[in-house]
Amino acid sequence: MPSSKSSNTPKKPNSKASNKQSDSKLRRFRGVVMPYAGHSSIRAVKRAGHEPSIHGTKLWKSSCLIIDYLKKNPPKRRKRVLDAGCGWGITGIWCAKHWDSKVISMDADAAVFPYLDAVAELNGVSTKSWVQRFEKVRKKDLEKVDILFGGDICFWDELVKPVGKMIDRAIDAGVGTIVIGDPERPTFHEMAERTIAKHGGEVLDWRLSGAVKATGALLVIHND
Ligand SMILES: C[S@@+](CC[C@H](N)C(=O)[O-])C[C@H]1O[C@@H](n2cnc3c(N)ncnc32)[C@H](O)[C@@H]1O
Repeated sequence: MPSSKSSNTPKKPNSKASNKQSDSKLRRFRGVVMPYAGHSSIRAVKRAGHEPSIHGTKLWKSSCLIIDYLKKNPPKRRKRVLDAGCGWGITGIWCAKHWDSKVISMDADAAVFPYLDAVAELNGVSTKSWVQRFEKVRKKDLEKVDILFGGDICFWDELVKPVGKMIDRAIDAGVGTIVIGDPERPTFHEMAERTIAKHGGEVLDWRLSGAVKATGALLVIHND
């Protein structure tokens, strides 16, 4: 009879070593953790065959610009938030973690949500997934939303109108704060100019140094 301590007994993983390995695949930013593509939880989602196809393939730094802005300028109303074109969803995850907000994470590409769920789990929160396009978000969908934001969502000419019109409906519906972050693509500036001409608001230059380095601009509209 083999003894219970046979050489086939699986070894316990060296948790210190594996944590260290995982830690090198994570960035920490303003109290949330952001995995790189090489993190084991992200690799597992990829292995399962989920392939985002409209650039929802990583965490884009425009999301960090929005997080930094919201941390420094917390809106009064922040119970319900909508992350439009959420991708891996870090901005909504930040709101769920820091403000206990109810977060709807919306994206046209269903393949982003397994990645978002993995990032949310690493941060110990969850958000509600919604497969939807900017052009299909109705005024009715926005009526209970306190904050609407989107990181790097106006990157093609064809997105200028849909993003602008979604903001028009958000203003109409009474959304309190709107923040769109961008690495300063011409399409973003075109949308922002048109929007400010209609509703007011401002474009702010924003810069991050430290763990995440980024520069860009934020379209900010206060509608309260
Ligand atoms: C550059 S990624 C940014 C993702 C995320 N906001 C971030 O900052 O990490 C753009 C996201 O917008 C989504 N998207 C593109 N066109 C869309 C549309 N018409 N309606 C909704 N989402 C769209 C893509 O699927 C993708 O996840």
